[in-house]
Amino acid sequence: MSLLSEIEPLKQSALVQLKAAADLAALEHTKGAWIGPHGRFTALMKQLGTIPKEEKPAAGKLINAAKMELEAALTARREELELKAALPKEPTDFTLPGRRRAVGKLHPLTQVTDDIVRAFRKIGFAVADGPEIEDEYHCFDSLNTPADHPARDLQDTFYVGQAAGLSAGGQASSLSHHHPTPKLPLLRTHTSSVQIRVMEKQAPPIRIIAPGRVYRRDNADATHNPTFHQIEGLYVDKGVTIGDLKGTVEFVFKELMGSDVKLRFRPHYFSYTEPSMEIDFTNALVRKLGKEWLEIAGCGMVHPQVFENVGYDPEVWTGWAFGFGIERIAMLRYGINDIRLFYENDARFLAQF
Ligand code: DAH
Repeated sequence: MSLLSEIEPLKQSALVQLKAAADLAALEHTKGAWIGPHGRFTALMKQLGTIPKEEKPAAGKLINAAKMELEAALTARREELELKAALPKEPTDFTLPGRRRAVGKLHPLTQVTDDIVRAFRKIGFAVADGPEIEDEYHCFDSLNTPADHPARDLQDTFYVGQAAGLSAGGQASSLSHHHPTPKLPLLRTHTSSVQIRVMEKQAPPIRIIAPGRVYRRDNADATHNPTFHQIEGLYVDKGVTIGDLKGTVEFVFKELMGSDVKLRFRPHYFSYTEPSMEIDFTNALVRKLGKEWLEIAGCGMVHPQVFENVGYDPEVWTGWAFGFGIERIAMLRYGINDIRLFYENDARFLAQF
């Protein structure tokens, strides 16, 4: 039999076997038997050298066409078998209930923050931002906070490095007290530093709030955590009064907690405001906790020295500022009695909000 006449029947048997391969392993085996290095079809091609010269072109063409056909059949069968392998082994029961994917939610602290921001936006406040790794100047000095203030103590504050030129060995805090413009890096202890950052960059009038994370060396218990969140507010313009402050805070708390909210302003001391006050808050929720008032914020009229520090003329500009804790508000709103629950990321807790 001539080589030429062998091609077609050989191809036909190869095609039959490729198409009949029951799984991917069988298919690879069949492939080897025909078009692998030792396959029968490959052997046929090797015989090409032995046939008469004038038959070669026709035979070569035929073999190549057959080989391409076999490879196409191989690929087609491989795809079929791969699909089959990927399908479930058991028949599908279409009467089973569908699998639901739970939709994620915003963290309760994020929800409360968003609500507070929304309330302030309604009356024209913009959101400002500042770094969580601050320096002593923006966190304390510029806010008129004296070098011997306890907030600046190593025990109370997370210092995260050394200012240039300071020696090692826990001396950072006390040394900085002799430093004219201390620049020690620290995790900000309050969002009040953002007041300074904004006023340094922007000319008055200013109407901003700054929500964000703050850090203090507190041991965690039901009402304390070394990380928590605050919202700072700053309003600077000509002729600003405490009346504006009260009206603004009252508006926001009523938006947030309902119209039965009552606020009380008590004299207090902060170095960056004069006069300074603390704001107490009450409503049905507070009374349900068996309390008459809940302390919720610090505030006051911006101290003239703070204006001086950022280059605003205190004879021209007036303003107020406040800062309150977000966790407290969230705990009250949702009836949560342990602040640590916010940070544990327990899905059973988070799914409730
Ligand atoms: N920074 C204060 C704190 O962390 C809160 C505060 C008090 C902010 C008075 C202010 C303010 O802007 O005027 O307790």
